[in-house]
Amino acid sequence: MSDNHKSAGGVPTTGHVWDDDLADLVNQPPKWWMLGLTASAIWVVVYWLMYPAVPVALNGNYFKGVGLPGSGQWTAIKELEADQKEVDAVRSKYENKLKDMTPAAILADSELTEYVTRSGKVLFSDNCAACHGQNGAGTIQKGGKFAMREQGYMAPMLNDDDWLFGGTIDKIHETVSGGRQGVMTAHKDTLSGQQIDDVAKWVLASSEGNGNAPEFAAGKKVFASSDCASCHGADGKGMQAMGSANLTDKIWRFDGSLEGIKQTITYGVNVGPDARNAVMPNFTEAGKLTPAEIKKLAVYVYKLGGGKADAAVAAK
Ligand code: HEC
Ligand code: HEC
Repeated sequence: MSDNHKSAGGVPTTGHVWDDDLADLVNQPPKWWMLGLTASAIWVVVYWLMYPAVPVALNGNYFKGVGLPGSGQWTAIKELEADQKEVDAVRSKYENKLKDMTPAAILADSELTEYVTRSGKVLFSDNCAACHGQNGAGTIQKGGKFAMREQGYMAPMLNDDDWLFGGTIDKIHETVSGGRQGVMTAHKDTLSGQQIDDVAKWVLASSEGNGNAPEFAAGKKVFASSDCASCHGADGKGMQAMGSANLTDKIWRFDGSLEGIKQTITYGVNVGPDARNAVMPNFTEAGKLTPAEIKKLAVYVYKLGGGKADAAVAAK
């Protein structure tokens, strides 16, 4: 060990030198680092005084901090309220605008449509999805079964372009604001079992494009000569004015098996305890939804993918 207290570079050592050239140098930390350390220490104290930093009760209350210059004592609630105000300000710009607009006018404004479909999605989950499924996709359960159809009840999918009551924005708006209830009479007293069997077979055949095959002639005749055509149209394609289903497509509101079709024809829809039950609630009644909310939902449903742009398309 040597007692040389200076290293070769002129920096003082602690006096500990081994093997003549291995020494503990006494280097000061750089000035910027010392300043930073001091500033941080001061900042800790300032911050600690400004904010509610002591979580213990002092005179039955916690230390709330001395507050920020200009904005007083900070609390999480105050910050939330300020954020909420900011959001409300952004919203009210749109809300005020759409108050006096028709749903069609909202649709024509892409910025407003964007806003409306977002809040419509939340409204839909809260008010409609229980019956129509999330995003209007129907309440499909595992195994492809419709949960509510099993109970003899089913709300239609809203994300396809098959509409009972019409898919124009005005028709959708009318549906959501006033509710719907397609009514089909029961035929247990007006048709014989044989006639019901025949007409059901014809309905099934025509949904598969075989309506004109000779073996279904008897059923076709029942359809034309009883009251079916007056509601479903001579071609069986349905009438949107009364929400009578299109019988010639493969989309079934209810059970589309032969037995299921027979049951619908025998007991009808929305007419008595044995009938199929399909009521779309009225959302204006008792203020369940505000007019603005109904407009938002109409635009949201339209935008699910099946909206019909042209009134002429839906007027069939
Ligand atoms: C209690 C179940 C139920 C709820 C809740 C419900 N619906 Fe419906 N909705 C139905 C049924 C059932 C029908 C079919 C009515 C019929 O067959 O006559 C229907 C029909 C519709 C139709 C017409 C579809 C067509 O093909 O023309 C639209 C649009 C619609 N609902 C939108 C909504 C919206 C939006 C909400 C939420 C505000 C909602 N529904 C809530 C049961 C419901
Ligand atoms: C008073 C009008 C009316 C008469 C008469 C009527 N229907 Fe209907 N029918 C409807 C309506 C409305 C619906 C749809 C109800 C719904 O979806 O809520 C319907 C639904 C059906 C369905 C179910 C379709 C599906 O997708 O599940 C079948 C099948 C059917 N009708 C066949 C017939 C036959 C066959 C006759 C004649 C024997 C007939 N209907 C007479 C109004 C009528």
